Order: sequence, then structure tokens, then C-alpha cells
Amino acid sequence: MTAHRSPATIAVTAGRPPREPDGPLNVPLVASSTWHAGGPVGYGRYGNPAWSALEEAVGLLEGGRAVAFSSGMAAVTSLLDQVPVGGIVVAPRHAYSGSLGLLAELVEAGRLTTRLVDVADTGAVESAAAGAALVWLESPTNPNLDVADVRACCAAARAAGAMAVLDSTFATPLLQRGLAAGAHAVVHSATKYLAGHSDALMGIVVCGDDGPHDAVLAHRSSRGAIPGALESFLTLRGLRTLHLRVERAQQNAGDLAARLSTHPAVARVRYPGLADDPGHRRASEQMDGYGAVVSIEVDGDATAADAVVNRCELWVHTTSLGGVESTLERRRRWPAESKDVSESLIRLSVGIEDVEDLWADLSQALSGTQSQ
Ligand SMILES: Cc1ncc(COP(=O)(O)O)c(C=O)c1O
Repeated sequence: MTAHRSPATIAVTAGRPPREPDGPLNVPLVASSTWHAGGPVGYGRYGNPAWSALEEAVGLLEGGRAVAFSSGMAAVTSLLDQVPVGGIVVAPRHAYSGSLGLLAELVEAGRLTTRLVDVADTGAVESAAAGAALVWLESPTNPNLDVADVRACCAAARAAGAMAVLDSTFATPLLQRGLAAGAHAVVHSATKYLAGHSDALMGIVVCGDDGPHDAVLAHRSSRGAIPGALESFLTLRGLRTLHLRVERAQQNAGDLAARLSTHPAVARVRYPGLADDPGHRRASEQMDGYGAVVSIEVDGDATAADAVVNRCELWVHTTSLGGVESTLERRRRWPAESKDVSESLIRLSVGIEDVEDLWADLSQALSGTQSQ
């Protein structure tokens, strides 16, 4: 009913209870593990009003049918489990380390095989797609911010008879719509921008008409990676302000990326919004904005990068991203992070604070490096 409205309006209005006298504006938080017999849901593992409300809203924003999960990785798992035993998965050589780590575990277990490619190299994705069961895309990638040609890669997957999946966590449904670009399914770590306040772990899969919606739903019901009612409630509440948060955060990110690219202590900046970034042209064509994650390589080694992180007083040193607060971390502090990621790379998740305060803190932290 609201699909023709703008995303900002959908984010505010979708997933609301019916308008009736003394009815609540928000879907009630129902803490019940089971339901009286005789209805279509029956048990708490099969449904909760808070999930349905969130799924309605995110489904409308992405243009498909959504299934919510207890975390982004649970959502990722529900899709990877669609690959037949022995199937081939094409995946980015560097992308979110959790997804790549899970793929490596499945390879180790003999469950499937992978072909790892540079996802920004469309020709490489096209060649690898032949004979594959699944083409896994992430764009922009975490943390290198590579940008895939989503439309061309999905077309290659489809031509090869493979399922095309896009992890669109960094873009949010506001900046990129993977289903319209040809993906069978889009996945989000809703823990990040959708929830937006660093207070809930959630994941969501959204499928197009020919996507694996029913299989993903059946996977959640039988495996049990269901979201909590409170987390679903918090994620929907976060979604109400997604457009405002993303608008402000990416404005801050663009501003900081430009300043960082002339800072003497910074060897490299990756941000698709910078005119000289390798992903700029493609992101400008296929996205409605460049997002709010900026990655920098400091001029120095891991120790120098750690020192920058530790000198920050306003920026929070933590993993995760997409919250209202600005956070940063050196990604290679995690042993599981790809060796293709520089030891001196710091991933910045730019929040919605005043940009001058953010710059003052970051530039003092970077300048300390130079005086060492
Ligand atoms: C791009 C991307 N996909 C998936 C995930 C996994 O999500 P979660 O931590 O909610 O399980 C993350 C988490 O950082 C991520 O950055």
C-alpha cells in the first residue's frame, strides 16, 4: 500500500499496527514463546509481531520479501545453506571476514568449494561464474571499500544458472537496491545501519520474486536462528530515522575523506565518494550515495596505526559500524582478517556527531604519529 512512497516515508510509516481508536502507533513488544492453538503461527519459533513489522518495512525498502534473523551471520548462513552439497561459490577475495571465514569452514568440511575473485574485476566474476551455484557479492566491501558492478555480476550469475546474492550492509536499502539490479537476494547485517544504535544484533534477507524466500524462511524455522522480539523492536525503531542518520553520516564521511586525503600522516584513503577513488565512477552510477565508512592507511606500520586509534578521545575504538557514534579500528588486529587488507588500515565508521569535533580528534590522533 505504501510502496509508491519515498524511502524516507516508508521507513517512518511501514510496519505499523492498524489505525484504530486507542490502538498503539508502534507494534507491541510481545514476550511470548508460544501462541494459543488454532492460528497460523502456533509457536514462537515461527513468528512474532515485531519480526513481521520489521520485515514489512525492510521488504518495502528493498522491493522484496524479507526474513529477519538473530544476526547478520545467521542471515548469511541461511543463504549459503541453499548451495547444494559440492556446489561452487564465487566470492570476493576480500570482504567481511566472518562471511569469508564461514565459507572457508564449509570448504574445509567438504561441503562446497569456492572461487575467490577480485569483486571489482567484473571480467573475473564473469569467468568464475560458469558452473557456479552461487555468486556472493558484497559492495562496497568491508573494509577495502571495493565496488562491484552489481548489475553485470548478477547478470553473469543468472546467465550461468547461479543464484546471485548481494551483501548490501554498507549501502543500506537507501543507497543501493540489489534486487532491482538483478540479485535473487540481498542480505544485511541489520546490526549496523538499520538498527543504528549499537544496541541490537540482527540480520535480514530480502528476496525478489524468483529468490529463495520460502527456503530461507524454512531454514529459520527449522534451524531456529530467530531474532528476539526486543531486538526486532529496536531495529524497527532505528529504521525510523535511517534516512536522517545516513544523510548526516555520509555528509560527515565525505567531508572527512576529503580532509584525510591531504593529511600528511595518511598514505591512502578509500572512500567511493572521492573523485579519484577506484570505485567512484561505478558507485556514482549504481548508488544513491557513497555511505559513511571510510578506510585509511596511515603512513607507517601496524604500531603506528594502533597508536592513532589509541590517541582518539571522541572516536570509539571498537569493532562493528553503522551506529550513531563514530567508531574506528585497525582491522588486521583480528587474525581472521584477509591478508589483502593492509596492516596499517584503519576502518572509520563515521557517525552523526559534529564534523568539526570529529576532525579535531582525528587530526590530533594522526598528527601524534608524525611527531614520533
Ligand atoms: C558486511 C557485513 N556482513 C555481515 C556481517 C555479519 O553481521 P553480524 O555481525 O550482525 O552477524 C557484518 C558484520 O560486521 C558485515 O560487516
